[in-house]
Amino acid sequence: MNWGLRNRLDRVLPGLPNGTGSVMFAIDHGYFMGPTSGLEDPRKTIVPLLPHADSLMLSRGILQNSIPKRTNIPIVLRVSSGNSILNEDLSNEELCVSIEDAIRLNASAVAFSIYIGGAYEHQTIVEFSKLVNDAHRYGLPVLAVTAVGKDMNRDLRYLSLASRIAVELGADIVKTYYCDGFNELIAACPVPVVIAGGKKLPEAEALQLAHNAVQQGAAGVDMGRNIFQPEAPVAMIQAVRGVVHKNLSPKEAYDLYLTREDGDEHPADS
Ligand code: R5P
Repeated sequence: MNWGLRNRLDRVLPGLPNGTGSVMFAIDHGYFMGPTSGLEDPRKTIVPLLPHADSLMLSRGILQNSIPKRTNIPIVLRVSSGNSILNEDLSNEELCVSIEDAIRLNASAVAFSIYIGGAYEHQTIVEFSKLVNDAHRYGLPVLAVTAVGKDMNRDLRYLSLASRIAVELGADIVKTYYCDGFNELIAACPVPVVIAGGKKLPEAEALQLAHNAVQQGAAGVDMGRNIFQPEAPVAMIQAVRGVVHKNLSPKEAYDLYLTREDGDEHPADS
């Protein structure tokens, strides 16, 4: 792996060199869902959470309009799009942000959705592969978002298949969902894997999910709604961080969430 790629990968997932997990914070939902609940005023929600996230996954527009330019947080830039929640099929995506623009925006990695089993599987696989060619020319890591879509069966068989295909195509990081037997997925996926949180869960369950994933080999989380939709997002990201960075049990982390439920006045915990 060349120096730039390695260095950027370690910036995006800073837990990698010492074997702990990392907290990537996903706020890219609006690129097909519009003003998602909790992100209606993106800057107001996101800025207090920045000190607690290791990296930020988002679209070009929210980066340019809602993230302070002087932040040091590593950016994972979503570069695929092409559909909206108003359409039945969400898989008709293509590369919509150039590598030059990603570099201009100082992205540390780029993210692209592949729709394995979806109507536009072929198109997204080919576009993803071309993105890997171009991004690697500049030492930019590529994150494959797998298993997104309304009708995907998120079981081990499907998630392993989608994740492994992403690796075979050249992904440097795979984003997928947690499932029963997750350690088998990890064994078949020789690059760092991060998990999405999915729809909002009760906080204790979301922390259990994060705990299960890192215990079974995930390199961390790339969670969104389960961080910015709870009543106390700052407390929640600190609790998630406790699980991922410090190996807190789900109960310890949930206690941390409850004791910090007053919101955003707490400094970063590491
Ligand atoms: C999916 O296309 C996006 O990357 C989502 O924004 C991401 O999966 C969301 O994370 P979560 O499911 O934790 O809200």
